[in-house]
Amino acid sequence: MHLLYAFLVLLSLSHGFSPNCARRCSCDSVQSVQCYRLTEVPSGIPSTTKKLYISHSKIQHLQLSNFTRLLALEEFILLACGTEFVENDTFKILSTLKTLELLKNKLRRVPGALPASLEVLKLNDNSIYALQGSDFEGLKNLKVLELKNNLISSLSPSMLSSLVSLQNLMVDGNNIDSVAGPLILPYLKHMSMENNKLHFIPGSFFTSLQSLQFLSFSDNFLSKIPVNLPKSLLSLKMERNQLKEFRFQDVKHLENLSHLYLSENFLSSIDGAQLLVNLTTLEVSQNHLQMLPHKLPARLQKLDCSNNLIQRVTAQDFQDLRDLKHLFLDNNIVSLFEAGALQRCSQLSNLALEQNLLLSIPLRLPKTLARLDLKGNAIQDIAERELKDLKQLQVLNLRNNKISALDLKALEGLPRLRHLYLDGNPWNCTCSLLRAREIFKAKGTDVRGGQCAAPAERQGESWMSSRKIMRQCEHHLHQTEKSKEAKKKSKPEDFSSKISMDDDDYDYEID
Ligand SMILES: *[C@@H]1O[C@H](CO)[C@@H](O)[C@H](O)[C@H]1NC(C)=O
Ligand SMILES: *[C@@H]1O[C@H](CO)[C@@H](O)[C@H](O)[C@H]1NC(C)=O
Ligand SMILES: *[C@@H]1O[C@H](CO)[C@@H](O)[C@H](O)[C@H]1NC(C)=O
Ligand SMILES: *[C@@H]1O[C@H](CO)[C@@H](O)[C@H](O)[C@H]1NC(C)=O
Ligand SMILES: *[C@@H]1O[C@H](CO)[C@@H](O)[C@H](O)[C@H]1NC(C)=O
Repeated sequence: MHLLYAFLVLLSLSHGFSPNCARRCSCDSVQSVQCYRLTEVPSGIPSTTKKLYISHSKIQHLQLSNFTRLLALEEFILLACGTEFVENDTFKILSTLKTLELLKNKLRRVPGALPASLEVLKLNDNSIYALQGSDFEGLKNLKVLELKNNLISSLSPSMLSSLVSLQNLMVDGNNIDSVAGPLILPYLKHMSMENNKLHFIPGSFFTSLQSLQFLSFSDNFLSKIPVNLPKSLLSLKMERNQLKEFRFQDVKHLENLSHLYLSENFLSSIDGAQLLVNLTTLEVSQNHLQMLPHKLPARLQKLDCSNNLIQRVTAQDFQDLRDLKHLFLDNNIVSLFEAGALQRCSQLSNLALEQNLLLSIPLRLPKTLARLDLKGNAIQDIAERELKDLKQLQVLNLRNNKISALDLKALEGLPRLRHLYLDGNPWNCTCSLLRAREIFKAKGTDVRGGQCAAPAERQGESWMSSRKIMRQCEHHLHQTEKSKEAKKKSKPEDFSSKISMDDDDYDYEID
């Protein structure tokens, strides 16, 4: 890996031998120059250069004279160069500069007197501790401002008042503990203030953010949903805060809200979500819910209630959710799952029920299921009637249950099954279990079988691969082989398409 990298660097440096390019830089035909391991802004590059990228260098200090030859510059990126100080006016003469990124440096202030042409300013991963109104003066074309991972402690309207065109504001990972309003940013679409120290957002904060669509306050200390959220919101993230209650009454004006993320709070119930008619995604994982939310909005496509304290799943909970595709109820204490509870969810493809207290596979699951995860329950057997309608099922996870024998009929009826997880069960490795192995192989199903718990002489053997059991059951298998022969010929085995047995995460994937 290192060798390959070294080779690539060498290759790129060799471009630099062209007479027009500076040492340790590579110049390419689209007036773009990349340099590494410099100690100053290169003086030997063409004055027509539009894009200059310098990284992993030592350039402590920048000043105007370093750029006087680079008047065509449109994009300047300085990454990990240890830069501490940028003199006032350094960039002012670059009247065509559109993008300025000074990332992973040691800046304590926003560079002064930036050119009015600037559209993108990224100062992530520095030590900027405060913003002043004068920092952004005249930047009326700026659309993107990123200040992630700095040391800023407050945000107020005067700091940003010049940024009349701003669309994206990212200040995640600072120390912001207070914000004041109203921010007057009429075109702001995305705002992210994740991972700060906010306890409270004043009601006036949002009154002039009439275009805001994506808002995130995840990883703060908020105990209430902010009031006066803009009506234009499509997505609201409030994960990892201190919400104890969520009143949909407070957000019912958000007629277009489609994504709501409330995971990892202290909610013990959420009712009334039907007021958000356009909601398609609701995530409330890792809260204290003892029941499924009542009255969910009919357009919901994804519901994540995993890691709560839910005990029961009933038809009433899901009667209107015809668009639901993904349902996560894993890591609860579900012991009662009403037969047919999800029958009305005629689009459901992914059902996660792992780590609950189920004693059997729920009856009358939707025919559309492609993935069913029942790992870590207390299921003792698999009955044909539980699985027979699941003609679309591709992944079935029954790992870590209490199953000791297989009903072959139940599994033969799953034409699309590709991955079956059966390990972690106390298998009774009779010769008829070996017959299951032959059937799976013939179908090309990727099976994790696990180990035998009985009979005593086969304990610890892996029943999907054990030669010992195979030998012992040879006679038994031959008897049944003949009847299967004809079937096998019409449907040739295809082992080449088998997916690696190590693919443990496959069952969590969502299309
Ligand atoms: C910037 O210009 C000054 C004066 O011309 C020079 O001394 C210094 O080395 C330059 N610094 C960089 C980082 O290019
Ligand atoms: C740089 O500009 C700021 C604000 O415009 C000013 O307060 C400061 O004195 C200036 N510093 C220098 C060295 O000119
Ligand atoms: C909601 O979305 C529709 C369709 O995209 C749009 O016309 C309308 O202006 C939006 N409402 C608000 C309050 O932004
Ligand atoms: C939200 O729902 C309303 C009412 O059904 C509809 O008029 C509007 O277009 C929807 N907005 C979006 C973005 O789908
Ligand atoms: C395993 O299956 C055999 C044959 O059905 C049965 O006789 C035996 O009791 C079973 N052993 C266990 C431990 O369930």
